[in-house]
Formats: sequence, structure tokens, C-alpha cells
Amino acid sequence: MYDKAQIQALQQTTKQFLASPLSIELNALKKVLQFHEYQYYVVNEPLISDYEYDQLYQALLKIEAADPACITPDSPSQRVGNSLNSNFETVPHLVPMLSLENSYNAADLNDFDRKARESAGLETITYCVEPKFDGASISLIYENDLLVRACTRGDGVAGEDITKNIKQIRSIPLSIPLAENGIQQIEIRGEVIMSKKAFNDFNEKLKAKQQATLANPRNAASGSLRMKDPKEVAERNLDAFIYHISYLLPIPGKTVNPLLKTHSGSLELLWNMGFRSPEKEKHLVHTIQEVIDYCSIAESGRDQLPYEIDGLVVKVNDLALQEKLGMTSHHPRWAIAYKFKARQATTILENVEFQVGRTGAVTPVAKLKPVAIGGVTVSSISIHNEEYIVEKDLLLGDTVIIERAGDVIPQIVHSIPSLRTGNEKKIQFPTHCPVCNTSLVKESTEAVWRCTNINCSAQIVERIAHFVSKDAMDIKNLGEANIKKFFELGLLKDIPGIYTLDFERISTLEGFGKKSVDNLTTAIEASKQQPLHRLIYALGIRFVGETTAKTIASRINHLLDLTRITEEQLLEFEDIGIKVANSIVHFFHDPMQLNMIESLIQLGLNVEQTSQQQTDGSLTGLNFLFTGTLTQLKRADAEEMVEARGGHILSGVSSKLNYLVVGEDAGSKLEKAKKIASIKIISEAEFIELVKI
Ligand code: IVH
Repeated sequence: MYDKAQIQALQQTTKQFLASPLSIELNALKKVLQFHEYQYYVVNEPLISDYEYDQLYQALLKIEAADPACITPDSPSQRVGNSLNSNFETVPHLVPMLSLENSYNAADLNDFDRKARESAGLETITYCVEPKFDGASISLIYENDLLVRACTRGDGVAGEDITKNIKQIRSIPLSIPLAENGIQQIEIRGEVIMSKKAFNDFNEKLKAKQQATLANPRNAASGSLRMKDPKEVAERNLDAFIYHISYLLPIPGKTVNPLLKTHSGSLELLWNMGFRSPEKEKHLVHTIQEVIDYCSIAESGRDQLPYEIDGLVVKVNDLALQEKLGMTSHHPRWAIAYKFKARQATTILENVEFQVGRTGAVTPVAKLKPVAIGGVTVSSISIHNEEYIVEKDLLLGDTVIIERAGDVIPQIVHSIPSLRTGNEKKIQFPTHCPVCNTSLVKESTEAVWRCTNINCSAQIVERIAHFVSKDAMDIKNLGEANIKKFFELGLLKDIPGIYTLDFERISTLEGFGKKSVDNLTTAIEASKQQPLHRLIYALGIRFVGETTAKTIASRINHLLDLTRITEEQLLEFEDIGIKVANSIVHFFHDPMQLNMIESLIQLGLNVEQTSQQQTDGSLTGLNFLFTGTLTQLKRADAEEMVEARGGHILSGVSSKLNYLVVGEDAGSKLEKAKKIASIKIISEAEFIELVKI
């Protein structure tokens, strides 16, 4: 998209604008911002910090506010949804959006190839194989370089106009260089997706707000497209892959870019025009056997991708040949989808148990007839709350569809009412705590029922389990089963009690040999040195997740600073709203919590912020990527170490990568990196050495 000289010039202008805002010129500023959006959202290699981008963006808003007449539709400011979508108008596609025929095995693919070769009268056909993105399909129309319309697939003939929402997706450019490629109007197709990370982050936010989580990234993406408020769409961090040109109107008398002779060429052109096309992911092959071989390689690598794919799409590469093969009324004859093994399965909802969490929230957990999906046996799934049970129409004894998407926790997709026998029973929500029998309450603003007895044994055990959990104080060997055992034996009553455990007694218990007691003592002792943000998260303050805990820790020097902090001060912190601020202040004024904190300080836990001192610039300008399983560090911590030293984490192997850190069982990334001489391939131990300096 941008060549070396253009990148240098744009970087030069960026520096100049940042250094002397008075020199900013509107058109150049828009180009600079468009360039940085592309670097950030399409190629995933930002060249300026978020802060610098924001400074330039604010400058743009200022100029435009002073003279609204100068606002163009492709200005980066026009991504911000200022008005709600009243309703979505139905609009016809320029070319019907057909679906694809599916294939599931080598025989299906051989069949497809044989038919295509027979119709074409050819011995062999070159195919372009690319991911089948698991999201929501969209079509976009650009005219005279500008994005003029975006719509959903709808019934394939007409879809809904969702232009305002699509403009929130930063990897979709608002303008593209059509004219210079000889094109006046173009209609293109693609898939809006939510990366696994964006999905998990978004669900974390929902959980913190006590809202029901979304089932999978595909539902999250498709649900986003028709949202009323474009600002909410922006919050979901969606992405889009563009993979097909369905219609093209040339500029009379001008030559259309010759890349448009093949499908792979069109992906290259789309990429060059600024789209995230599967240009880097595509795979060209010359026989159907190569397609078949590639399908099994890609299927085994699907979990390594940062987004969900449900198969591959095999396309005849020559566009003239595509034209010749044509289409049926349902699908093109020049393409076929190869579907990976399903990660959905049906099973029976046998029972529902009610678990009490650390905040007293009572969560129904569906007990299922065990079923294998994608290599994992699932027998138990959280079903969140009463509303969720109604929404999914669940009855005891129902046949339900469950789904497991990548790293995502399995979910019930829906029940199948048509299979009911009449013996199914309504799920009865308890009126009293199943553990301590206190009557449950539900606040009007919440979806969950709660046990209000702070001394409920289930809550105490869960608070301790949260404190020691992997993302909190990370005390391995003290799992939930042991906590329960120690609690029942009266050996552990509260969080500070972890640090005064009677190991002599413990070593007399069955299953606690010298080695396991030693490991437990070491892990407990080591946890005292965990960074402050982990301790803040571990305390289990309502609405304070890992991210909020990091924000708080970065703004204070000592845990006890929080006993003096006001809501107003907290509201100035990034991403902290009134509900969170109120909860924090409440927590640090509660005598019971203050007592606990005092005990933890006495016991020698680290309560000071030290990570800022670690921050240095020793890795500034260097790009890192981790692959395989790290054995000594958590990947998130290793990435944090890089960022704290000024380095960047890339999402894939490219010539921009400086270091590939290789853990156990590294796969395709390592192979790819070996082919690029400039990349230094180092072990986890070498990485630790590197960050020590
Ligand atoms: S090509 C006329 N390529 O899969 C051909 N489709 O099951 C247009 N999809 O409706 C489709 N990734 O929403 C194509 N790389 C890809 C795709 C892809 C995902 C979706 C698309 C389509 C559905 C068919």
C-alpha cells in the first residue's frame, strides 16, 4: 500500500506536525492519520504511540470544528458515530451475494475439481486457498475513491444499509485509490470478525458489568453490525477481511489494473489499496491433491490463529476461467468451502446446580451428558442467570446444541424444542442460598441473585480461590479442592490465613508428602513478591478486573494510598467509571477489608508499586513475537516485559520482526521466521537474559 519513500515522507510529516502543531496542514494531516490507521489496524505495525496519534487526531477535530465546511466524508473524524441508526434501510446488492457449496473430505474436493476441469476442458487448474473467516459477511461499495455504502448479506439479493456501523471498523478504509487503478465504482465482499482477544476482552468487560457474555466471536461480530449506536460498535474492536470483488465499473478510456486477471492478483490489489485482504494468508496450489494436503495442515493450525476460521475456501484462480464456469442459482461453480470438523454438538441438559461465587452471586451451572467437541469432553457449562435461561429457552431434559470456539469457554447455543418429549421440567431458581440458606436478593439493576451473608462459607472459599488464582497471586498447588479441604478442617479461615498455614498439620494429611508441602510453602512465600496490580486484582474488589487493577497500580505508590483516594480522583483514571470508583472507595473504607489488608502488610506482602522503576527503553524500536509454550514465564508477563522496555509485540512473522522467542512445541511461525535472515530466533532463557540487562 505505502512504499518506502511514502512511509519515510509520512513519518517525516508526522514528526514535524507533532513537534510544531502550528505547521499542520489539513489535507496532509488527514493523509498522515489515514496512514497511521492503516499501520495500526491493517498491517498491525504501529509507527507512533497511541498518545501521539491522539494528539494529531485532536488537532484534526480542532481544525474541523473551526471550519465544518472542510469536513470530507473520508476524514478520520467521520468514523465517530455521532448519530444513532434509526432503522436500517433495505438496499439491493449490485450482484447477488451467493453462498458457497460445502465440502468435508478429500472425495468432495476431488469431485469439485473433476467437474471444474471437465467444464473447462483443462488437465489441471490453479487454485487459491484462503481462510474461511467465521464472522458476518458484508458488501461495500466505493465510488470515485470513497466508501459510499456498506450492507449486510440479508437474503443475498438485498441487505441492510449499515454504513455508519461499518465506518467504526478501522481496518476498512474510508477512501481507496480507485481512479489510479482505472476503476470508477467497485462492489467488494468480506467478513467482519472479532479476534479471539477482542472477544475475550469484551466478554471480560461484560462480566465485570454483571452482564451475560456473548457465545462466540461470530455472534459477537454479527450482532455488532446491526447495533443502534455506532459508538457501541467502536467499543467492540471489530476487524474485517475483504476477499472478493463482485462488481467493477472501469473508468471509460482507462486501463484497469492488470492484477485483476487472477483471484490472487485481486487480493494483492485489495491489499495495495489498503484493505486487510487475505493476501498474506492465501496459498496458491496447482493440483487438488495439494489443496487436500493443505486443508489438513490448516485444520491442525487453526487454534494458533488470532481469529476464528471454520474452514478454507478453495477458489479457481484464473478470473476468466471463473467467468466460464459460472454459477448455479445458489453458489459459484468456481469455488467451494472446505469445512473443518464441527465444534458444535448436541447433548442432554441433565441437571442444573447452583454455585455461590465470591461476591455471593448465585450462578446456575448446566450439568450435561458428557460430550466430545473438537477433542475436549464437556460436561458442565455456566448458564449465567435467569434471563439467560429464558433467552436460550432451556428446560431440564432438553436436547441442547453446545459449541466450543477455539480458546473460548464452551457455551450453550440454544435448545431444540422440537425434540421435547413432554417430560422436560422448568429450571427452578432457589430462593435461599444453597450453601448457608440465607434468602437471596436481586437488585433491580442486576440480573443475578445474591447471597448477602458475607460469612457464607462458599463465598469465603471462593474469595480465597480467587486470591490464589493464576492471574492474581498465582499460588500454584493451592487449588480449589485443597482450599475447601483446609477450610473444612479449620486450617484456613480467610485470605491472610494462607500465609500462616500450619504445615506440620498439613503434612500429616493424606496426599501431602514432603515434596508437595515444600512446593506449597515455596509458592506461598514467592507470592509475597507479586507486583501490586496482582494484589489489587486478588483482593476481589467488585468490578475491578485485571486491566482496572493495572490502571490503579500504575497511578499509586502504595496500596494504602487507596484508603485515602476519593471517587473524583479515581474518575480521572483511564476507563474507571462511577460504578467502579464507588466500589473501590467502599472497599477501602470497609473495616473488615482494612483489617485484612493490615494483616497482609504485617505478613510481608509487597504493597508498593515497583514496576515503573523497571520501565526503561532498552528494547525501544524492537519488535518481538512469542511462539510455542513458555515454561518459565507466562506469555502475558513476557509480553508486558517487552512493552515495559519500549518494545512492541507483533501478531505475525514478517520482515519487521526482530526477535522470535521460541518456547516448546513451536510450529509454523518458527519455520516462517527461519526463512527471514534478519530475524533473531532466541530461546526463552535467552529472552530472560536479554531483559535482565
Ligand atoms: S467467497 C461468491 N471467501 O462464507 C463467493 N467467502 O459459506 C463469495 N466466507 O457467504 C464468497 N470467508 O460470508 C468467500 N475467504 C472467503 C470467505 C467467505 C468466509 C463466508 C462468506 C460466504 C460464506 C459461505
